[in-house]
Amino acid sequence: PGPVPGELLEIAVRVAREAAATARRMRDEAIGDVQTKSTDTDVVTAADKAVERQVVDALRAVRPDDGVLGEEYGDNAAAVPGAVRWIVDPIDGTVNYLYGLPQYAVSLAAEVDGEVVAGVVRNAATGDEWTATRGGGAWRAGRRLSCSTEAVLGQALIGTGFGYDPRRRAHQGQVFAQMITRVRDIRRMGAASLDLCLAAEGRLDAFFEKGLNPWDYAAGGLIASEAGMVVTGLNGAPAGPEMVLLAPPALFEALHELLTELDASGGP
Ligand code: IPD
Repeated sequence: PGPVPGELLEIAVRVAREAAATARRMRDEAIGDVQTKSTDTDVVTAADKAVERQVVDALRAVRPDDGVLGEEYGDNAAAVPGAVRWIVDPIDGTVNYLYGLPQYAVSLAAEVDGEVVAGVVRNAATGDEWTATRGGGAWRAGRRLSCSTEAVLGQALIGTGFGYDPRRRAHQGQVFAQMITRVRDIRRMGAASLDLCLAAEGRLDAFFEKGLNPWDYAAGGLIASEAGMVVTGLNGAPAGPEMVLLAPPALFEALHELLTELDASGGP
């Protein structure tokens, strides 16, 4: 028999809680070195690295044969059929973390044969925690989640985010400028994994972003989808770096059309 999603989730939750505690403690005590990655605005702290190391070690201790894809240390996953690959973002919302804004999270998902089967996102600042297993629903604090039922784009609150590459940002800014008159409002809160969880519980009606990495959306994507959201890319493509689009079924067509009209997946 293959790995059981519920058992993987149990491990994920324990590991994410320990990781979130470390992130929180390092935030309170000493963030450590702050370096830049892809561009001057793309930061990584010593805490990002320490937390990912802790997550990998904790997973290895109980499941030594699994692969791990992580934001800071990359992919060491062997493509073995039926094997588990963990996808980890040790601190999503690193800029919020740097500034002490309480919107940063540990995101941990378990994938089997390219399909995410279990995921947890834990806001390390507040302790809020969202979980899901494939087919088992999305949950927070013992409550099963369901997404918004909004059907009118002009009344929808849309979440999004911006990448770190200035040329990509310029294009995303143009999309933002044109969209803002067509929807209720737009939120940019700075941690994609948390945006997806907020969408799962109807605190955002929908979300889109170009340029996300799997560690940003693997766990949150499952949580949103288990809460009833359509989670995809554009034109029938799966969610991916080109576009992650989430909407309730009744809003999907209209938002998809607007994103296509605005060429939201275009640009660098
Ligand atoms: C970033 C956040 C942000 C999103 C960026 C991501 P990081 O992740 O999720 O909300 O807009 O695209 O790179 O760098 O804080 O882990």
